[in-house]
Amino acid sequence: MSPPMNRLTFFLLLPLLASGAAGDAAKGNELFDEQCAQCHHAYTEERKKGPSLKWLFVKDKLDSNGKAPGDATVLEKIEKGGNGMPPFSGSFSNQDKADLLAFLRTL
Ligand code: HEC
Repeated sequence: MSPPMNRLTFFLLLPLLASGAAGDAAKGNELFDEQCAQCHHAYTEERKKGPSLKWLFVKDKLDSNGKAPGDATVLEKIEKGGNGMPPFSGSFSNQDKADLLAFLRTL
């Protein structure tokens, strides 16, 4: 292989390598459908039992606690629940959490 081809291969593989370390949004979507969708809309801004999670990471602050959205503050809400949301601490593996966050970041 010529050197430019090697470089191309490297950049094509890069997202694949990165996605293993981070979350898999497609798997997160499945978890969301199973565990969250009964209370949260993801693709419309309409409220269900809980607020819509569309634009979750784009908002200035979370509706529930006024904190800036980030992996830590969103995970905190998922794990502790409160105000009508059940706590999910212990329900998810670290990989599940990364997958869920990756999905929520696509909304
Ligand atoms: C039984 C209903 C219910 C289920 C199931 C549920 N939630 Fe919630 N969720 C709520 C309610 C109600 C709130 C609002 C709580 C508040 O204002 O503090 C909320 C708030 C949130 C928030 C904060 C949004 C904001 O803008 O502050 C996030 C993030 C969230 N839920 C994610 C999830 C995820 C991810 C799941 C699945 C793992 C899930 N929820 C499952 C009812 C639910």
